[in-house]
Amino acid sequence: MPFLLSLLSCCLQVAAQNNIATEQKINSLIKKMTLQEKLGMIHANSSFTSNGVARLNIPELVMSDGPHGVRPEHGRDWEKDENVNDSGTYLPTGNTLAATWNPALGYQYGAVLGSEAKWRGKDVILGPGINIIRTPLNGRNFEYLSEDPYLISKMVVGYIQGVQAQGISACVKHFAANNQEILRNSINVEMSERALREIYLPGFKAAVLTGKVNTLMGAYNKFRGQWCTHNKYLINDILKKEWKFDGIVISDWGAVHNTKEALENGTDIEMGSEFTLKSGTDYSKFFLADSAVASVKMDKVKLDKLLDDKVRRILRIMYRTKLAASKKSTGSYATKEHSAVAAKVAEEGIVLLKNNDHFFPIQKKNIKTIAVIGENAARPNAYGGGSSQVKALYEVTPLQGIKNILKGTDVTVSYARGYKIERNAAANDTLIAEAVKAAANADVVIVAGGWVHGYNYNVWNDNAYDAEGFDKPNMDMPFGQNELINAVLKVNPNVAVVLMGGGAIDVSGWDKKVKTIIEAWYPGMEGGNALAKIIFGEINPSGKLPVTFPKHLSESPAHVLGEYPGDSVNVKYSDDIFVGYRYFDTYKVQPQFAFGHGLSYTSFEYKNLQVNYANKATTVTLIIKNTGGTAGAEVVQVYVNEKSPEIKRPEKELKAFAKVMLKAGEEKQIKLTLDENAFQYFSEAKNKWVMKPGRFNILVGSSSADIRLEKGVDVK
Ligand code: GLC
Repeated sequence: MPFLLSLLSCCLQVAAQNNIATEQKINSLIKKMTLQEKLGMIHANSSFTSNGVARLNIPELVMSDGPHGVRPEHGRDWEKDENVNDSGTYLPTGNTLAATWNPALGYQYGAVLGSEAKWRGKDVILGPGINIIRTPLNGRNFEYLSEDPYLISKMVVGYIQGVQAQGISACVKHFAANNQEILRNSINVEMSERALREIYLPGFKAAVLTGKVNTLMGAYNKFRGQWCTHNKYLINDILKKEWKFDGIVISDWGAVHNTKEALENGTDIEMGSEFTLKSGTDYSKFFLADSAVASVKMDKVKLDKLLDDKVRRILRIMYRTKLAASKKSTGSYATKEHSAVAAKVAEEGIVLLKNNDHFFPIQKKNIKTIAVIGENAARPNAYGGGSSQVKALYEVTPLQGIKNILKGTDVTVSYARGYKIERNAAANDTLIAEAVKAAANADVVIVAGGWVHGYNYNVWNDNAYDAEGFDKPNMDMPFGQNELINAVLKVNPNVAVVLMGGGAIDVSGWDKKVKTIIEAWYPGMEGGNALAKIIFGEINPSGKLPVTFPKHLSESPAHVLGEYPGDSVNVKYSDDIFVGYRYFDTYKVQPQFAFGHGLSYTSFEYKNLQVNYANKATTVTLIIKNTGGTAGAEVVQVYVNEKSPEIKRPEKELKAFAKVMLKAGEEKQIKLTLDENAFQYFSEAKNKWVMKPGRFNILVGSSSADIRLEKGVDVK
């Protein structure tokens, strides 16, 4: 042990010396720079780059979207780059990754993203997006992770470390409280300090303190009256002072609105202001460009200090990445290994929501014909809803995946479109009639429906409901899908519905009548194969919902307790900390499907729960056993409940989880540790995290609504 300790300490010393050496290099570079050169570095000089200083061998900083794949190239000023090799890996979207509840997979996901960005010559990949899923209607929920800050904190760290291990910077976004697309460029968000600290900040805090993220993106909206990208409280006070963030704050594209505030309140690089300034691509007109800065009344010493800090942060990240002595990987692109990671995330992220009579998995030998119904079964999603679009090397749709897995068998696969994807399109009787005919002649019917993405490169929201810049009008199934499913059920009871998309949709029109329901999100380029393997039992599903699915929008907390989308100026988060299951469990409202819910083809027994509190740590041990006939993975979830809190607290809060792989009949002991902040709440009166010593319940289960074991513990 002593040898290891001495080795560790000398590594830390070397690292510290490197940092000191790097900081000295940076300081000497800054001393040589002119005012113009400093200003050039802190705003865009093209759609996705900020300037370097050629004279001093400081390169440009090259950025690219997006959170689940490197975006197709477009020229330095948004015009389309033709004939570039930009067909790459299209990973499953963020909500699919979150549904795996597998932080190690998050690392692999980030590693693929970083490797492809590296290969494409990017320095910063503009992801992960981690905004809290507050309302099912937010058009960008597909890009984000969860309603729960703890799950986000665990999944975001692996992703960031995976990206940055490739010598590329991740960019955690959008800081903060960008939870709706309606009026995103102007809305002012009001919320309590407790909601901010307990719900909306923890994911970002983990990204900075644990993930060591190199860059962060300021959000479009306002927070408590000030633009997020130059919000004194969020950026200077919390991010840079309290959390000691030493990286770069990059504005969202067009999110800077005020030169003085951007100088003083921590914007380090201004991107995309051509949208707000309507200046075309005249980068000299930007808020942090020469003329605007020259017009600010500020003494030179103060201005220099502010500019030097911004430039220092940019250079610091450059030395950590593209200027690093040890050249990291050159990256690789669109490889089989990368598609294999996309496949793994889809296989572990697809959620089996309902499965009556063991309808799934389907045995190939027991069927002659399978009817696949729904335009979503044959529709590619990679071009997705907005800046997160990817030009996929290929994309296996659900229909193609089912055909692939049945190749060489004598099972017939029939397809019917079932509905027409067109904004506000009603049920189409002709298409329904075709679908009913196919269903009547099939042993098994798979209806692929749910939400839809845009799929044209330039038309993000072409009929899409999951798209940047737009929110859904309601939670109702579009295009007459309810009528379709009920018509099909009339001629065949063996129906499974596969929902695609960014999250909850109102299934109350048929969910009691179908045998099986699967949530497949947007499962990436290998999604169709992953889905088919789950349908036919080659993969045992292990996904768990990272968000609650309300039965109806009218029962969703943002719409019951909170304001949404607010009036045209402000939106008040009076739902406060009661987001997602924190609301449903505390207010005793039955959701359609609970946070953490996901079925398996096998079954698991939870037993021998022990909870011990000793010197500020609480250890939770239990035995989990696979009591079914097939291998499978279970996500064991640990929630904390305070018996008699001094202020209103959620009925339970997720504070630990573990994904456990078990062969049939196998059992394992798992041990999880809760540190003291697992019991704390944020006291506005004392403006800090506090814990009232006393009795807590430790609830262990397979979902927030399926608690299997519970034990009390006295926490000092
Ligand atoms: C967009 C998005 C942001 C994206 C950026 C660059 O408006 O809000 O997520 O990274 O601009 O495309």
